[in-house]
Amino acid sequence: MVPYRFQPGFWLQLVFSVGIASFSQPVGLIAHDAPHKHPEAEAHKPTPLPDRINLCVTQTPAKSVAVTWRTDLSVNQGLVEVAPAQSGPIFIRTPRQLKAVKEDLKSDLSEARYHSVVIDQLEPETVYAYRVGDGLNWSEWFHFRTAPASSKPFQFIYFGDAQNDVKSLWSRVIRSAFQDAPKAALLIHAGDLINSPNKDGEWGEWFGAAGFINGMMPILATPGNHEYSRSDKGPVLSKHWKPQFNLPSNGPAGLEETCYFIDYAGVRFVSLNSNERQEEQGKWLDSTLSNNPNRWTILTFHHPIYSAAKGRDNKQLRVMWQPIFDKHKVDLVLTGHDHTYARSGLLMFDNAGTGTTVRDPKSGTVYVVSVSGPKMYRVEREDWMKRAAENTQLYQIIEVDGDHIRYESRTAIGTLYDAFELVKQAAGKPNVLIEKVPMTPERLGEEVRTGRSQSMDRQSGFTR
Ligand SMILES: [Fe+2]
Repeated sequence: MVPYRFQPGFWLQLVFSVGIASFSQPVGLIAHDAPHKHPEAEAHKPTPLPDRINLCVTQTPAKSVAVTWRTDLSVNQGLVEVAPAQSGPIFIRTPRQLKAVKEDLKSDLSEARYHSVVIDQLEPETVYAYRVGDGLNWSEWFHFRTAPASSKPFQFIYFGDAQNDVKSLWSRVIRSAFQDAPKAALLIHAGDLINSPNKDGEWGEWFGAAGFINGMMPILATPGNHEYSRSDKGPVLSKHWKPQFNLPSNGPAGLEETCYFIDYAGVRFVSLNSNERQEEQGKWLDSTLSNNPNRWTILTFHHPIYSAAKGRDNKQLRVMWQPIFDKHKVDLVLTGHDHTYARSGLLMFDNAGTGTTVRDPKSGTVYVVSVSGPKMYRVEREDWMKRAAENTQLYQIIEVDGDHIRYESRTAIGTLYDAFELVKQAAGKPNVLIEKVPMTPERLGEEVRTGRSQSMDRQSGFTR
């Protein structure tokens, strides 16, 4: 019998298959091995299993916490089980069960059901375990700790804009922050958590990057311009915001879950929504801070009133809000938006001043602009900046300890980049600011922007 390779059919088949292979795919791969893009709708598809589980702050963090999660539409009743956590596993025998409120959301990828509960009747400074589910399909048990009943030391983490490439490049930042402050009491997000307000895939990346961290540390988030879309009637908040977070509603009517305050262990934290109705929020802030029994006041909102990026200035907002901050001796203002880093000394409103000419008094508020995601702008170096950076992903760990606030800004690889301490004085006297800027070279200029200054970017032993 003639071997197959000497038959005409063999050569015809060989030429045909080599030809097809060389035009359609890389050498060495056959068709079913070729990579293909996994569909977004599949990657972020809701199921009966709870996902996107997150805690949010309430107005009374010593007594309650809010939890939210997502399932598909087959889950009719969301449940939370909660119990004081114990060293052994038998706490699961006697949990308290709470029923969730549900809200359906049709996104660009799917239709999902969001469940939310405020877990109340909690004891201060206690570790609780909770899980979420439908009675059959449950999450794991997560731990969280309630706030102390009075002023005690605690840490919190603050992020500027995550916004872009959130899975790819922001995940490392939140995970580094968690490694450095695993018992932080709060996660502050100063807006622009994602880029496109109503893209479910981007929100999926944001929840995926934080993973179980969101289930253990309550979120205090304020919306940025990228959580808004435009309409004829003005800016419209992302339809994902309220179903997926469960933030306080103690601000002006119509700005629920975006403009609010909480009191945590001697600190009044306020989220202002810098995207809309700013004047009205100024009046609300004035009245809210007129009745503030806390030692410290920390604000977060998205658009900085001292801009760090080249060519940017939000003068209108500065004129409107800063006199109110001064009147109530706000200690610290945490913002984003500029995709750079800049931190001030003590600043007070100067009628004649702009960002560049403002005086440097011995009293006032410390202002910070920061960025945690990979989108970067150029810095316009100005006199008010005590420290600045370009092309640097950062997170901040802030410790409140009696009359001291210790602030540290660290880069994505954990290098200490900026630090200061605020010391509270007797009533009526201004804070003392102690500069603790590390010797790390300032990350500004062409070499930093182009990535050519490798020597100053390499981590040579952790400086935490
Ligand atoms: Fe922004």
